[in-house]
Amino acid sequence: MTDVDPRQLSADDWDELHFPRPTEHEFDRVVERAISRRGFLGGALAFGSGAAAMSMGLLKGTTALAQQTSRFAFEQLAPQTDGTVHVPEGYNWDVLVRWGDPLFSDAPAFDPQQGVPTEGSDRVFGENTDGMELFNVGGRELLVVNSEYVNPKINLPAGQEGEPQSAGDVLRLQNFQGVSVMEVAEGPDGWAVVVDSPYNRRIHHNSPMVLEGPAAGHDLLKTAADATGAASLGTFNNCGSGRTPWGTYLTCEENFNGYFGTTAELSLDDTLAAGFKRYGVSTKVDPGRYNYHGFDPRFDLSKNPNEPHRAGYIVEIDPANPESTPVKRTALGRFKHENAASTLTPDGRVVVYMGDDERGEFMYKWLSRDIYVPGGDTSTLLSDGQLFVAKFNDDMTGEWVALTPEATGMDAANIAIFTRMAASAVDATTMDRPEWIAVNPTAVEAYCCLTNNSRRGATNDDGSVRTNAGGDPMTVNAPNPREINRYGQIVRWRPHNNDHGSSTFDWDLYVMAGNPTVHTDGPYAGTANINAGNLFNSPDGMQIDTTGLIWIQTDGNEGEFAGMGNNQMLAGDPVSGEIRRFLTGPNGSEVTGLTWSSDRRTMFVGIQHPGKPFPDGDGNLQRSSIVVIKRDDNAMIG
Ligand code: FEO
Ligand code: CA
Ligand code: CA
Repeated sequence: MTDVDPRQLSADDWDELHFPRPTEHEFDRVVERAISRRGFLGGALAFGSGAAAMSMGLLKGTTALAQQTSRFAFEQLAPQTDGTVHVPEGYNWDVLVRWGDPLFSDAPAFDPQQGVPTEGSDRVFGENTDGMELFNVGGRELLVVNSEYVNPKINLPAGQEGEPQSAGDVLRLQNFQGVSVMEVAEGPDGWAVVVDSPYNRRIHHNSPMVLEGPAAGHDLLKTAADATGAASLGTFNNCGSGRTPWGTYLTCEENFNGYFGTTAELSLDDTLAAGFKRYGVSTKVDPGRYNYHGFDPRFDLSKNPNEPHRAGYIVEIDPANPESTPVKRTALGRFKHENAASTLTPDGRVVVYMGDDERGEFMYKWLSRDIYVPGGDTSTLLSDGQLFVAKFNDDMTGEWVALTPEATGMDAANIAIFTRMAASAVDATTMDRPEWIAVNPTAVEAYCCLTNNSRRGATNDDGSVRTNAGGDPMTVNAPNPREINRYGQIVRWRPHNNDHGSSTFDWDLYVMAGNPTVHTDGPYAGTANINAGNLFNSPDGMQIDTTGLIWIQTDGNEGEFAGMGNNQMLAGDPVSGEIRRFLTGPNGSEVTGLTWSSDRRTMFVGIQHPGKPFPDGDGNLQRSSIVVIKRDDNAMIG
């Protein structure tokens, strides 16, 4: 285990730290020094003829809008390093809800030092807020929010050093994660949770789920408790979010691997061993991060080796029906799902774009077979269709490669369960950790945050190139053009024929983050839309509002990136490329999760794992929170 304070680690960072694949060497730093000596040539040669276009970060076809003055209704906020939230002049913020706040009046009171007891821990708002979406159901505002992971040192009683001591401790951690559905309302004193609303609901690590699609019922999904392979318990590491055109919520299971472990040495067949290796499921006999397996046999691989195959999916939840059972949509693939960005093709088929957030993993697209008919049956739109993986070409075109049995040599169920292997089989493009994808509602294009990749372009001690866990090389490539990429970039694509159903597209980089105050030239200075005023790194969360502004949230390193300050949220103009800082989070926190009220006068923003006792101040536990942002004049903000 590490002595790094877990409060300073996002779930992504923790997973990278504890499941390094392949092992990090001193050689990383040697390469970095070599690049800094070679300057611009170090990374930029790799993008060849695309370099000029990418340095401006704009596709052809930009309009006269690019000539107009800034579209932003705020002045840029300076970087901040303190323990609270900042927004620009003319805006205000307030706390809506904190980890441990009651969703029901019978929930236990929150203790400022001990948090929430096990009894009733499924009646409060969850920990580590992440993706969220708002649904208006019959005039009520329902906020549906992911709780990605826990910080055991904070969430268990003081003095336990974050180590579960009992099944009750594990149950408490399990209850703090998953999804919260809660009605929210704006009154004279601002926004608040409607305690005891009939829509309020907690979905956690033991909530019943239906498995559906090609993997459902497969032997690899059957366990001692479920001989059908079609009914599982819990949704795990719920990271980003999405919404369907028919008003359901999509929660995305990311670093699910971290919940499993073993209490005894394992003897695995080749299929299981290869799957655990590719997905980072630990086979060591140790407590791991949460030690669920020490107290709950479902998570003990020596007893239930198939349980990890029941996680890693997109899960559909109907917020309008509190009695509905969440559905794991296995057709959309099993990987470390970041978010799920939906749109429709011109003929009405459903497209869902998805990223797999791990170094050198891939970007995916789902295309339904049938069209969406408002008011019609939507139950098969995320089951019957085709999953694709992205391949980017150096000439700034790309294609979506269908993951079919013919192309991959795998059957439909295995493609759904071991999607990473299927994508490797068709030579998909290894990416710098795809985080959120957003579809622009005002143009036929989409964006993906590629947060960073410290191993891109690096080599092992024997001179071989670094690979992802499947052996696919992470040499620099056109959309991931920088070796040792610690800043990240945002790739954008426009489907051919203005149709998200098209299997081909053009692409560019909307921005490469960097630091022109440290690197005066070359790829680490970033693209032309990065300047001393708007520095950031590690773009992660992202939404595009109804006016077409791109809201970018960061999950970066605060210590080694001079001038960037705390994690933040920026707004980007897709046409001019201008990017401006809008909000900063408390130090130690990640800013992640964003949605709007139905009247677009309120913005809901997630503050995850604050490092200091935010928002309650000294003497209190730090609490992940959702804050509401409004304009002082109550005008629309997106
Ligand atoms: Fe949970 Fe990749 O962020
Ligand atoms: Ca994220
Ligand atoms: Ca991240």
